[in-house]
Amino acid sequence: EIRRKVDALLARMTLQEKLGQLQMQGGDVDGAPNDDLVSLARRGMVGTTLGVRGAANVNKLQRAALASRLGIPLLFAFDVIHGYRTIFPTPLGESASWDPSLARAAARVAAVEATAAGIRWTFAPMADVTHDARWGRIVEGAGEDPYLGSAFAVARVRGFQGSDISAPQNMAACVKHFAAYGGVESGREYNTVDVSVERLWNTYLPPYHAAVNAGVATVMTSFNDISGVPSTGNPELLQDILRGRWAFDGLVVSDYTSVLELVAHGYAADPADAARLALTAGTDIEMVSTTYHDNGRELLLSKEITRRQLDDAVRRVLTLKHLTGMFDRPFATPARESVLLSAANRAVARRAVADSVVLLRNEGGALPLSPGIAKIAVIGPLADSGADMIGSWSGDGRAEDSVTVLAGLKAAYPSATVTYTQGCDPVATTAPDLAPAVAAAAAADLVVLVVGEPAALSGEASARSDIGLPGHQEQLVETVAAVGKPYVVVLVTGRPLALPWIAEHAPALLVAWHPGTEAGNGIADVLLGKVNPSGKLTAEFPRAVGQLPLYYSHRSTGRPFTDPTQKYQSRYLDVDNSPQFPFGFGLSYTTFELSRLSLSRRTIGSGGSVTVTAAVKNTGTSAGAEVVQLYFRDKVASLTQPVRRLAGFHKVQLAPGQSRWVTFTVRGSDLGFFDNAARKRVEAGEFDIWVGNSSTGGLHTTLHLR
Ligand code: IFM
Repeated sequence: EIRRKVDALLARMTLQEKLGQLQMQGGDVDGAPNDDLVSLARRGMVGTTLGVRGAANVNKLQRAALASRLGIPLLFAFDVIHGYRTIFPTPLGESASWDPSLARAAARVAAVEATAAGIRWTFAPMADVTHDARWGRIVEGAGEDPYLGSAFAVARVRGFQGSDISAPQNMAACVKHFAAYGGVESGREYNTVDVSVERLWNTYLPPYHAAVNAGVATVMTSFNDISGVPSTGNPELLQDILRGRWAFDGLVVSDYTSVLELVAHGYAADPADAARLALTAGTDIEMVSTTYHDNGRELLLSKEITRRQLDDAVRRVLTLKHLTGMFDRPFATPARESVLLSAANRAVARRAVADSVVLLRNEGGALPLSPGIAKIAVIGPLADSGADMIGSWSGDGRAEDSVTVLAGLKAAYPSATVTYTQGCDPVATTAPDLAPAVAAAAAADLVVLVVGEPAALSGEASARSDIGLPGHQEQLVETVAAVGKPYVVVLVTGRPLALPWIAEHAPALLVAWHPGTEAGNGIADVLLGKVNPSGKLTAEFPRAVGQLPLYYSHRSTGRPFTDPTQKYQSRYLDVDNSPQFPFGFGLSYTTFELSRLSLSRRTIGSGGSVTVTAAVKNTGTSAGAEVVQLYFRDKVASLTQPVRRLAGFHKVQLAPGQSRWVTFTVRGSDLGFFDNAARKRVEAGEFDIWVGNSSTGGLHTTLHLR
């Protein structure tokens, strides 16, 4: 039925109108369309928009579009990444919950809010795996692991899209950035990616593929080139893999001006060539640059693109507009905007904050804090900054709506004296006067130091070559620590940081990420023990920036580092190979014990499966949740294999003293890998199996694959 309607409309469209549908434009001031955009819409020269939002703004522009010759409605897109108005922890933070159902719930709240504001298409989830914390956009994905990343990509697609994207409270999702954007050399933004076929297929592609299998409506190309071919003009990626092997029948949108950027890449000779390369490769919509619009007619006349190619792209745009119900219900309902920042939405966000924090250090039970403390000094440049709570890509979130750590602690300790001292600027390199911080610490019973990375240092175009604490914050922490009062460190950050002194000296270190609107409340819930921390890292914290790229699933090498007295091993002279804090690691206020690992069978065939079982017990005195993780290693294979690969996880809630069985099903095919011809291989042999609570250690057994 949709197909018939689309074809009927297509038959009535002029070339200009078709090119208009392939054009995405910005052109808003705080969500309101400017006059140029209104004029483009009235002339049918724009098909989708980026940034126009708010029911009144959207409706104004939609009226203009409906007044065009064919009255084709616009579809309104926006980067709804970790919330629309109620902002949730950044995706990296949320992934640290190891709870995809939380990410799904957060995406659902975001969809309900964004659709109320007229947005029916979000540019999320970002499914880029990365091993390099220098890359600012590590904040926007689920970290370093393809298995975990796939689970979160799927959860987010389901949260945004619901079961049917035509429902008014659902929106089309867009998995991005296809492909391997997280592999940029040196972690430098927009840089080249040079990747082997096997790594592309084993490490980078699985989360995008999982999103496609989950029914994601759209895919965004990435800025980078891969082994010399920019993604936006890459037929192997967009045709052979995406539409061919994965049978994706949705829409592909370029990234911002990435079609025109084919020229700067040195891949296209000029804008017309860029349009040809992108359209013929399979990029349907051009975001912001206008090479399709400017050159489409000539390219058709010169037969460099075919009418079929053009029509197919337009068909996909019109189909998406039908699927999202824009032809039937083109307008937003202003009354629905009352849902923005509702108490219910904030409650989900508060829980998300508490479930995403990761406790990396807790010496002598420094945390949880006692409820009876009389004088608390909150010190640090990120303790009272609303903008740094909501982080980068924070939709229509507002700094003034967010609860800072200071505000959260004041609310949690209504009868205590809670003072605030900034201590130093978050980034300035001029020497700060630390005397006020020292005096505040000296006058307090407890110090809460809130330090880290401001939101502006994280996200797109925010690569850093030094990922220590910026400015003089390290000096601030060490100086306050020297006062001798009990203190805890709350780390606000968009990426793993290298902070060896704090990692080895602070009594407690709690990573809060950029936690969102309910930051202070959720962090206070954890600091006071109302919520027991249960987060685990999804990207390793290095000891030094020079260790990057750093990831648990590295390979052995021919000279693995096993003996510190040996020089000629794969190692650094000045730092251990291991991370400061490994993937999968995070502490709790209680303790857990794993035992009784068993396999339902010792040998399986490639088409078979095995049930792996272990018991987990809460051996402490408070209720808590443990993330039980299953890893394997293929000991000998025709391609060298990672020393470990995650293949399952369960988050288990346990009362004190309670035990539960945890079971994982591992199929023979899960133990396979892609080779350098992109063929899946499942090879016979011995496999190590570990069940543990991080990517190091754990209970061990072996499995044989026939
Ligand atoms: O969606 C984003 C993308 O991730 C980076 N460039 C801009 C796009 C639209 O805002």
